[in-house]
Amino acid sequence: MPVSKGTSIANSNIAFIKYWGNRDHALRLPATASLSMNLAGLFTRTTVAFDPALDRDVVVLDNAAQSAEALKRVADHLDRVRALAKITTRARVDSQNNFPTGTGIASSASGFAALTVAACAAAGLQLSERELSVLARQGSGSASRSIPGGFVEWQMGTGSDDSFAFSIAAPDHWALVDCIAIVSREHKEVGSTGGHALAHTSPLQQARIEDAPRRLDSCREALLARDFSRLAEIVEEDSTMMHAIMMTSRPPLYYWQAPTLAIMRAVREWRAKGLPACFTIDAGPNVHVITTADHAAEVKNRLGAIPGVQNVLTATPGGGAELVTGQ
Ligand code: DP6
Repeated sequence: MPVSKGTSIANSNIAFIKYWGNRDHALRLPATASLSMNLAGLFTRTTVAFDPALDRDVVVLDNAAQSAEALKRVADHLDRVRALAKITTRARVDSQNNFPTGTGIASSASGFAALTVAACAAAGLQLSERELSVLARQGSGSASRSIPGGFVEWQMGTGSDDSFAFSIAAPDHWALVDCIAIVSREHKEVGSTGGHALAHTSPLQQARIEDAPRRLDSCREALLARDFSRLAEIVEEDSTMMHAIMMTSRPPLYYWQAPTLAIMRAVREWRAKGLPACFTIDAGPNVHVITTADHAAEVKNRLGAIPGVQNVLTATPGGGAELVTGQ
C-alpha cells in the first residue's frame, strides 16, 4: 500500500444543552441528548497519512510533541478507523488548532471530528454523515456534533449505532454570535473526560437527567422559532445545572473563577435591560456569551471592559466537517 493521505477541517461547537456524564464510558454513550451550534472559524485542520514505513502512529498537535495519554487517545481512534477499513498500517497525524487549546473552547470536538473525517478518507472509507458522527463520538462525545453543519442535536440513541448528531437548522437559520470572554489560558486541572466519569457521583445528576428532555425540547423550539428570550433562559439554566453537578461531584469540580461569575451577573443585568445576550460555560472558566449579530459589537465591547477579561473571540454559526481536496 502506498502512502495515502486525507485532510479535513472541522469547526468547534458550543453546546446550548450540555453533555455531561455517560451511560457507557467506553463507547461514550451520553446520559442525555445535547444541542449545539458549530463555531465558524474556530477550527482544527488535520492531515492523516497512512504510511507502511511507520512502525507506530506519529502524532503532532500544534507542532508540539504530545503526552502519552493524548497520543494513546488518538492512536485508539485510528484503531477504530483501521478496524473498519481492515488495515493495520500506522499513520502520521498532523493537527493544528487556530484557537488556544485547553481554555474551555472545545478543542476535542473539532479535533476528533477532523481526525475522523481525515482518517476515513485516507483509509479509503466512504461513510455517511451519520456513520462519521457515530465514529467521531467514540473519540470525543462533543466531536459527534462537529460533523454535521449549523445547529445540531446529538440524540442519546439506544446503542452505539443510533447515538449520533444531525443538523436541525442550517448555519444561516439565525445570525447568532458567540462572544467568548477569555479569562484564563491555563490548562484545566480536570478535563471533560475525567469530569464525565464523576457526574454520577453528584446526588443532583439523576434529577438533571430526568429533566433533560424538557430542556432539550424547549431549546430546540426556541431555536427553530428564533425566540431569543426563551433561548436565553433555557441555555443559562442548562449550563448552570451542569455546573451544579460539577460542584457537587465527589470530588467536586469548580471551573468558575471570579471573573466568570462577574460576567454571568453582568450578562443577566444587560438582558434585563433589553440587550439580547445569555451566557453558557463549558468545563473551564471562560464564558460564551450568545447574542445576535446586530448586538455582537456592543456585547464584545462590554465584555472587554469587565476586569479579568483578557480578550474576546467571536464566532458565527459554522458548517460541518469537510474534507479538503486538492492538497
Ligand atoms: C462541558 O466531548 O469534551 O463541553 O467525550 O470525554 O471528549 P469527551 O468529553 P467532551 O465533553 C464536553 C463537555 C462540555 C459540554 C458539551 O460540549 O456538551
